[in-house]
Amino acid sequence: MRRAIYPGSFDPVTYGHLDIIERSCKLFDEIIIAILVNPEKRPLFTIEERQAMLLEVLDEIEAGRCTLRVESFEGLLVRFAVERRADAIIRGIRAISDYEYELQMALMNRRLEPSIETVFLMAAEAYSYVSSRLVKEIYQLGAAVQGLVPPSVEARMKQKFQKE
Ligand code: PNS
Repeated sequence: MRRAIYPGSFDPVTYGHLDIIERSCKLFDEIIIAILVNPEKRPLFTIEERQAMLLEVLDEIEAGRCTLRVESFEGLLVRFAVERRADAIIRGIRAISDYEYELQMALMNRRLEPSIETVFLMAAEAYSYVSSRLVKEIYQLGAAVQGLVPPSVEARMKQKFQKE
């Protein structure tokens, strides 16, 4: 039984994230999608909202026999991974610009916890420029985010920005 952690901010989840989760399902029996609780960041969505959004869209994934779980974590990622008896950490790489930071994190995590491997997966080219940050930015400036995030996420973004 192979278990992996897919960590991130997911503020909000995009089709790029879903693509990585689907690909991970081909390699692992269980994926724990782990939302980082980061007191230093001011996210658009609360942890509960991000968790609910992920649960809403996971049905769209062709998971096969792979089990998908959504959790949140605080503190060191490798500590959480060890607690959950995970074999690997999954990270998506979009472009070469992601690589430097991701390599640095992977090597630091390996130093902290040599038993856990980081697995890099490449998202589909169609999502190579999609990030939660840009999705929020263009939406706030009046552009459509259709095709970048699932409709349920778009609806929650609409609600959120209407309230603000
Ligand atoms: O979606 P993001 O914001 O790119 O995800 C970054 C994340 C959550 C993977 C990273 O910030 C992280 O692992 N934070 C937990 C704290 C930690 O373990 N830091 C040391 C990393 S070497």
